Amino acid sequence: MNAEKSLYERLGGYDAISAVVNNLIPRLVADEQLGRFWAHRGNDGLEREKQLLIDFLAHSSGGPMYYTGRGMKLTHFGMQISVTDWDRFIQHLQSTLAAFDLSECETDDVISFIQSTKNEIVEL
Ligand code: HEM
Repeated sequence: MNAEKSLYERLGGYDAISAVVNNLIPRLVADEQLGRFWAHRGNDGLEREKQLLIDFLAHSSGGPMYYTGRGMKLTHFGMQISVTDWDRFIQHLQSTLAAFDLSECETDDVISFIQSTKNEIVEL
């Protein structure tokens, strides 16, 4: 039996991941450099994307949910996301994680996982 807990469990499960995403998305949308990616999007489109991000992170961290969205490469291909865009995204993620009572280990694991998707998302 594997006694080691998944990152999903260590973070506090679905509700914790949902809270993190709900904290992160408004920061991204309000960012003067990143906001263009979400300009002129309807509320429902944003809500749908938020739900898919929650599902993706919950699934990828070892949670029981099935991710029904698209892969990271297909989803972001053509958006021309640059390294500077990416760095701003990571800064917002760090601010979000700092707003929660997470240990350094969990914070590092979340950042490492997100960084592992960089090559699929960044084009420029
Ligand atoms: C600078 C970084 C990023 C930008 C600008 C960005 C932008 C976007 C935008 C505009 C959409 C909506 C696409 C659409 O409706 O067709 C989207 C969808 C999505 N993004 Fe990102 N994204 C970034 C990073 C990430 C990261 C790091 C992850 C996860 C590790 C992620 C996960 C997703 C998911 C799961 C969706 C929904 C997929 C689907 O519609 O099937 N994104 N992103």
